[in-house]
Amino acid sequence: MISLGENCAIILAAGDGKRMKSTLPKVLNEVLFEPMLEWVILACENSGLGNLCVVAGYEHEVVERYLGGRHDIALQLERKGTAHAVMQAESFLNKHSASCDNVLILCGDAPFMNEDTITNALKSHTECGNDVTVITALIDDPTGYGRIVRNGDKISAIVEQKEASDKELLIKEVNSGAYWFKISALLSILDEFESDNSQNEFYLTDAISIILNRGGNAGAFTAKDAKIILGANDKRALFNLHKIANDEVINKHFDNGVEFLSLDGVIIGRNVKIGANAKIHSGTIIKGDSVIGEGAVIGPNTIIDNCIIGKDSVLNSVQAYDSTIASDVRIGPFVHIRPNSEIRSGVKIGDFVEIKNSTIGENTSMSHLTYVGDSDVGKNVNFGCGCVTVNYDGCKKSRTIIKDRAFIGCNTNLIAPVTIGEGAYTAAGSTITQDVPDHALAIERGKQNNKEGYALRKIKK
Ligand code: UD1
Ligand code: CA
Repeated sequence: MISLGENCAIILAAGDGKRMKSTLPKVLNEVLFEPMLEWVILACENSGLGNLCVVAGYEHEVVERYLGGRHDIALQLERKGTAHAVMQAESFLNKHSASCDNVLILCGDAPFMNEDTITNALKSHTECGNDVTVITALIDDPTGYGRIVRNGDKISAIVEQKEASDKELLIKEVNSGAYWFKISALLSILDEFESDNSQNEFYLTDAISIILNRGGNAGAFTAKDAKIILGANDKRALFNLHKIANDEVINKHFDNGVEFLSLDGVIIGRNVKIGANAKIHSGTIIKGDSVIGEGAVIGPNTIIDNCIIGKDSVLNSVQAYDSTIASDVRIGPFVHIRPNSEIRSGVKIGDFVEIKNSTIGENTSMSHLTYVGDSDVGKNVNFGCGCVTVNYDGCKKSRTIIKDRAFIGCNTNLIAPVTIGEGAYTAAGSTITQDVPDHALAIERGKQNNKEGYALRKIKK
């Protein structure tokens, strides 16, 4: 068994993606909420490939910032073709040639390359003793891809669409743009590529004929799943990839017993986990490392980003970010749960409530039109309609503490920092600026003054 850790990979990512009309480098355009480059990097990392080098060019600073030092980077300041891109990673190849036997070359704009294909292609590469093994796929419409020309069983060349003869254009086996090379073989041919083709580019595809002409071994590994070749040059193709990825994720959840009432507008990221018998309504987007408990009902029109939602909780028209929501919680409609909130079990949160950076204790209820920010709220607290924790004085944020069983009257403003004691009451319409002791009633409002007959006198005038 070969260990992939003894090998390394180069990801070609210098392209500008003009047709994307994007300000981002092409490879940072997203498929199912993750940059295409991230998909390719994860395929390598999940295969056990530890040493990666990304060849960046167009907007390379943005790619460098994205990588944040996670992997090596090589710069290709002028785009002169795929072989030229590999030449820029020569020092990476030299650095690893002592400890690694093989290098995988991948396109950063083909996100569906997977672990299975990478591993099996390497197996075939080493078993056949190849200097290069190109990963291919059989597709109905090969337009645009390099064609795999075979002599009997053996690969003899890769011919680009623009250089292909009429006969070659009919070939349906195409180049994925991914290859395993023996590092020593690749290093030894780096100065043999020429740009004498229609694009005046150095084509990495020429590696096959260069190696064969030298008496080396070249092979082709046909991927089981043709999807691995798919890439995106424009937003339409990007959408297509996004749809394929989303459909695949949803199918996995169907298998796990998740119930979808409609798939309209349902988008689920690939790291999301959903328990059996959860129900997902239309217009629901779940992303990040979210986990949805068994029997939960999510949607319609809900965004859950990086949240844990407990068993049997119901979220209807909610936007929730980076928060934890326990089991048997009812939230919605029209509720915003902002980052760093913890909603404990049995809580009820009704319409037009916003919660931020707060803990809400078991069975607490806030049914309408309330803002709770930077607060620690105990158990069985009741909020009337229209309560506000006033957490910001224009300079700094302060916390509000509300102890168990407190009753916050309608339209209470709690000016933080402030503590409401256990079982204490605030009278409706009060602006509370001082701590309220346990079991006390705080009332802070002007005395009512009735002017008898006022309206009648007004009409007479
Ligand atoms: C390439 C292959 C083609 C294959 C197809 C699969 C060549 C000559 N052709 O064609 O056989 O079927 O991929 O998708 O290799 N890149 C650089 N620097 C460059 C040029 C490209 O980093 O100077 C990067 C791009 O960002 C991209 C990848 O290499 O990630 C492939 O380049 P692209 O221009 O898309 O090649 P294709 O024309 O698709
Ligand atoms: Ca391409």
